[in-house]
Amino acid sequence: MTDLRGKRILVIGGAGLIGSHVVDELLTRDVGAVTIYDNFCRGTRGNLAGALRDPRAHIYEVGGDILQADILAAAMREADVVVHLAALWLLQCHEYPRAAFDVNVRGTFNVLEACRDAKIQRLVYSSSASVYGDAREIPMTEAHPFDNQTFYGATKIAGEAMATAFHHRYGLPVVGLRYMNVYGPRQDYKGAYIAVMMKILDRLGQGLPPVVYGDGSQSYDFVYVGDVARANVCALESDVPHGCYNVGTGIGTTIKAVTELLLELTGSDQPISYLPAGPTFVTHRIGSTEAAERDLGFTWRVPLREGLRRLIAWRESETRA
Ligand SMILES: NC(=O)c1ccc[n+]([C@@H]2O[C@H](COP(=O)([O-])OP(=O)(O)OC[C@H]3O[C@@H](n4cnc5c(N)ncnc54)[C@H](O)[C@@H]3O)[C@@H](O)[C@H]2O)c1
Repeated sequence: MTDLRGKRILVIGGAGLIGSHVVDELLTRDVGAVTIYDNFCRGTRGNLAGALRDPRAHIYEVGGDILQADILAAAMREADVVVHLAALWLLQCHEYPRAAFDVNVRGTFNVLEACRDAKIQRLVYSSSASVYGDAREIPMTEAHPFDNQTFYGATKIAGEAMATAFHHRYGLPVVGLRYMNVYGPRQDYKGAYIAVMMKILDRLGQGLPPVVYGDGSQSYDFVYVGDVARANVCALESDVPHGCYNVGTGIGTTIKAVTELLLELTGSDQPISYLPAGPTFVTHRIGSTEAAERDLGFTWRVPLREGLRRLIAWRESETRA
């Protein structure tokens, strides 16, 4: 097991949904310092409000873009281990494939190269279950073929392949995490790219019926953001030299069931409004949890009902503020 005591940790993309929870999780340990490297194109300082009260946490103020390789290298020289989460999201990659290439592929290459040059002891980075495309079988193990058809998934496959090459060519210890559908407090509900749960909560907040596209039978593996943060720390603490692991619960929930749960938890009696299905990326995706449990010692803890309760409470406090 890698001992994080006293370690200096660089969290790239640390102001985002998952990254800010990784920062919080790290600060519960006896780490030396946590530096947040983020260009704030989607992440916010608000996400870090609690963490920044801890004197061990700070934002790297010189810069925070993974495309600025010399600034990234300078930040890396002050770190022992790195968590890399910075990326453009699915829908943004769909609309801007070249930007997706620049940030997710070239940016990730910059991170890998800077880790090599700074002799970083361990890198944990965010891949995605998007590499798999639609499930051929359920649950999907890490050996499931890469049936991805999206630009986003393509960038994640490229990132994994580059990490593998850096490990084999330079010996960089590096673990990739393929998250299923992550949700929880600090999930974006204002920007241009908003996930389904937040859209439903938005409609309910306006007193409107929630919209479900198709019959709502699409099913996904929803995993609570705090659990995903802990998976990152488990991967940092592990001795696995190289590999990619699913991070999920192994439980599939349909969009219809999620919507009904949100209606119940918000005390709404709105009917669900079903509209014809538009273009969807994947319709079924549930990951096997076995490998992460065995090799990283990671087991999820927060059930969907409890996670949604926390998400709703957070969103209510945000919209009141
Ligand atoms: N949320 C999910 O369901 C999910 C699922 C699978 C994989 N992932 C992956 O997990 C990682 C974190 O996702 P998230 O949901 O927290 O997203 P997020 O958008 O909240 O966080 C990404 C962070 O990266 C930052 N960033 C973007 N471009 C950057 C750049 N050029 N330089 C520096 N920082 C930059 C953003 O400002 C943001 O704070 C991403 O790599 C994402 O692809 C997320």
